[in-house]
Order: sequence, then C-alpha cells, then structure tokens
Amino acid sequence: LKRAAAAESAKSSSRNNKTMDTVQEILIDVFGKAIADAFPDLPDPPIVIALSGNNPKFGDYQCNSALPIANSYKQSGTKISPPEIAKKIVAKVASTELIEKLDIAGPGFINIFLNRSYGIKKLTAILRNGLLPPSCTKKRVLVDFSSPNVAKEMHVGHLRSTIIGESICRLLEYLGHDVIRINHVGDWGTQFGMLIAHLQDKFPNYLQNPPPIGDLQAFYKESKTRFDEDPEFKKRAYICVVKLQAHEPEYLEGWKLICDVSRKEFQKVYDRLDIKIIERGESFYQKMMESVVKELQEKGFLEEDEGRKIMWGKKRVGIPLTIVKSDGGFTYDTSDIAAIKHRLEVDKVEWIIYITDAGQATHFEILWKCAEHVGILNRKIHRVDHIGFGVVLGEDKKKFKTRSGDTVRLCDLLDEGLKRALDKLKEKNRHQVLSPEELKKAQESIAYGCIKYADLSHNLNNEYVFSFDKMLEDKGNTAVYLLYAYTRICSIARTANYTPKKIKELSKTVTITLDHDKEWKLGKVLIRFPDVLLKITKELLLHPLCEYVYEIATTFTEFYDSCYCIEKDASGDIIKVNDSRILLTEVTAIVMAKCFDILGLKPVSKM
Ligand code: ARG
Repeated sequence: LKRAAAAESAKSSSRNNKTMDTVQEILIDVFGKAIADAFPDLPDPPIVIALSGNNPKFGDYQCNSALPIANSYKQSGTKISPPEIAKKIVAKVASTELIEKLDIAGPGFINIFLNRSYGIKKLTAILRNGLLPPSCTKKRVLVDFSSPNVAKEMHVGHLRSTIIGESICRLLEYLGHDVIRINHVGDWGTQFGMLIAHLQDKFPNYLQNPPPIGDLQAFYKESKTRFDEDPEFKKRAYICVVKLQAHEPEYLEGWKLICDVSRKEFQKVYDRLDIKIIERGESFYQKMMESVVKELQEKGFLEEDEGRKIMWGKKRVGIPLTIVKSDGGFTYDTSDIAAIKHRLEVDKVEWIIYITDAGQATHFEILWKCAEHVGILNRKIHRVDHIGFGVVLGEDKKKFKTRSGDTVRLCDLLDEGLKRALDKLKEKNRHQVLSPEELKKAQESIAYGCIKYADLSHNLNNEYVFSFDKMLEDKGNTAVYLLYAYTRICSIARTANYTPKKIKELSKTVTITLDHDKEWKLGKVLIRFPDVLLKITKELLLHPLCEYVYEIATTFTEFYDSCYCIEKDASGDIIKVNDSRILLTEVTAIVMAKCFDILGLKPVSKM
C-alpha cells in the first residue's frame, strides 16, 4: 500500500498543466520514502541523488545515500555495510513510471536507469502543451541591477551587472515570480556639486538654453580636474551640493540636465542589448533618507564617531554603515538603508537580489545586519541575496581599459562587437548568401549574443577575460557555435518541407520513439531542462544553463550523425522522412530557444 502511495504522490507532485516535473525531485521523493521505509529508526536520513556522469553503465542518476547511512549506524554502534543498506533501500523503492531498473554497484551506489516511456511522455507533453517551467513557490522579487552612476562612466562592471541581471529577471519571470527590475542609479552624490559648478561656468545661461553636453565623461573629467586643482572651485562645489540638497530650483535644474544626458546614454546601451529596467536611483529616496535618519536617531541606533553618525548591526563586527557624514550629508549607505526599507515595507517584496561587483559583498552584509537589527529586515520572511561578480580583465589580464588607459565606453565596445561580427560573417562568405537585412540581423545577433554569452558562460564569481577573438570562435561553448547549431536544427524540418503547421499536426498523432541509443540520450538531456532551472535558481548562477544548452547542441550532433532524419536518393530527392525524429528535433529546438531566451540570445532563422 505504502509503495503505491509513494508512486502516486511522486506522479501527482506536478500533475497539473502549468508546470513540468523535475526528475531529480521525483527521485528524491521516491528514494526519500524508500529510505524512511527501510530505516524508520533514523531521524533524518540523507537523501543523496546525483547525475551519473558519462558512463552508461552507471545508469542515469545515482542514489548515494547508503554510505552516509552506514556511517551514522556505525556511530551509534551498529555495523551494517553500505551494499547491504543499498539492498534494503532498493527493496523499498516504489515502482514508478520513471524508473526502468536499479543496480547496486560496488560500495553501495544505487544506479538508477530511467524509463524510455517516461521520456517519451515528457517530450510529447512539451510538443503538445509547450515547455513549462518547474513548479516553485512564487515570490515577489526585486532585482537591483545595472545601476551605473550619473556622469561617471558606465563601465564594463555595469555591463556585467546589466547582462547578469537581465538573465536573472528572465529566469525568475519564466518561473512565475512577480519581478520588479530596478536600476539603482547613482544620481545623488557629492559629485553633483562640482558638476553643477562647472556647468555654471561653462554654460552660464544653461537655464534658458540647455547646452548640448554630448560627452558627459569628458565634462566629468574637466570638472574633476578643476575640483582637485583649484581650491576656490572646490569650495564652490561644496556650496552647490548644499544648495542642491536644499532643493534650490536653479540647482535642481542643473542636476536634472546632467541626469538627462546620462540617462540617454544608458538607454542606448539598454536598447541595443534589449534590457528592460525601471530607473529608481538614489535621488528617489531623498525624503525617505531624511525620515529614516530621524527614526534611527530617535530609536538610538546612531552613534557619534569623529563627527559622523554611524550604525552597527547587533554585533559590532566589521565596518559600520556611515549614515550621516560630518558635513551633514548622506551617503551610499544612507540611500541603501532607505531603499531596503521602502522595498520591504512599501513595495512589499519578499526577496531582494542585488547585483554588483564582488567588492561590495561586505557592504551588503553589513547593510542587512543593520536592517535586521533595526527591525526592517526579517530573514524569516524575507530573502536577500547579493550576486557579486568578478572583475572584467583585458587580454593582458589587467583591468579592462582602452589602450590609452581610459575606461572603455560601452557604446564603443558594442560597435566594435558589431564590426567584428560582420568580419566574421564575411570571412564565411555569408554576405554573398544573405540579403542585407538578414545580414544585419545575423550581425546583431552574433555581436550582442557573444558579448552576453561570454559573460554568462563563465562562473560569475570569477574574474573573466574579455576577448572578442575568443567569444567569436565558432567552436566550443560559444554563442556563435550555439546560434549556428540552432539555425541548423531549425532548418532540418524546412529541408523536409515540414511547415510549423504540419509539425503541430504530427505532434498530435505521431508518438516519438526513442529506440536508438542516441535518440534516448538526447531525450534524457532534454527532459533535464526543469532540473537545470531549479539548480541555477537555487545557486543564482547562470553558467550551468550555458553548459546545459551546449550539452544539448553536442548531444544533438551525436544523434544527427547516427540517426537519419531525412533520407535522400542519389539525385538528392527526399525518399523518406522519419517523423518521430523530426519531432525530436523540434523539441530540441524548443528547449534551446527557451535557454537562449533566458540568456538573452536572439537566434535568427538564417545566418
Ligand atoms: N551605483 C553602484 C555602483 O556603481 C551600484 C548600486 C547597486 N545597488 C545598490 N542598491 N547599492 O557600484
């Protein structure tokens, strides 16, 4: 009876039409029950399920619980060998449509072989119902990403944050979360003092006649030089900050003018890379900063420290937040305290994800500790994460800079990507085959795709070397390879003269067969899709998704090399089309397309 119940619950765990089950979760469920059944005296037995690696001898997954269970028995004085434990577990595993057979290997590993009929059912469901996400508890999430600083350069670090943030949002949205995408632009700092002072000098009638500041970066540099070299100017800059923060109209006007120029520049990058984000910069929190500082002061959370007002978490460890500077001004920390309060109390989000360079990890740690201490953040109901990425290096392994040592402008970088992508296409003579529009589409797809993919396919915790040569290679795990692979896969059905409509029809009547080993191998990779999504969501890493889509492409090649989809005679006429394989090809394209979508890659039909 128990077994039947276990099998039933495993099946029904995502038996609805909105989600897709994950093999890993079903196995954890089935083996969890079997282990509890076999060893009822163990309070919290470990349930270890892993993919089996490459040797088909070891099955598709493994349950590796026997060893740790044997160890815990040993500690309590009972001797029982891992293989013996494995045997007992296997005896209790409920029969389920997912598992074909179980083997026990040497030291007590249980090899799990999946059932083809389960695979067939899953693949058919993808064709008929679309590719559905795995089920998960839906949350209201705020993703704080990109967040460049006005008038300072938007640099490759911000590009990383932008690319990673966009993908994280796409992933969470696909999983069904309610996602708010926020650009915490640095638009309210002391740098505005010198910028406004310089604006007044350079364009005295800026109020009547808004000047065309094309190059804010140069403008910033000029004012910074004056600020550093001219004490008079420096004094004036401070006065300007004070007047701005007192909201004097003339100064607000100047501030707005500068922000507008920056905003337009940022937007160009966002448009080109197809980034959706809502601007809510530091200035948004002006009023809130005032009230939160007052509140913290009244409740006794602020401490004097050489004229500054600082705040600690419950324990006085690490570096405290600086809430008020000695000149009375607010800081990055102040805006972040106001922001987290607003997000949790007004936006009522349950989860905040901040995406910045890894160097800011301690800032967020202390921010959360303080927010917890003062009762804004409650980790029992709120989740907070910092995705901290490594720095971007040039090919010389030094910080990514232009030859003259300046920050690389992102628009220039994207332009170079376009140029290089076009060179690549021409090298392959594609300009002679594609129409001008097709060529342009392919060029953009490759250029922006390769920049995003190079970033996302590296473990984001590590630094990574920005190299157009590497990212434009057409072999290995690169965007170019994958985009080509996908285009080729999509062209198979076209070669067979199967229209999308015909494929839809077929999927209703024809069942996919997975008799050939290479078909089954591909099928097993494809049904792992929801497992991969859950894994990357848990770890907040994107490179495993890149590895996965690469695995799909290479496994597809293996399949295609040994399995005819279309047979032609000597004159090149089609004599036979294998419908099941066309459908398997279709599922491959569907899963790849979804991965591309999450990764921000835009495949084109011809390239
Ligand atoms: N503007 C900051 C920077 O350039 C990033 C802001 C990140 N978000 C935040 N809430 N602190 O480093």
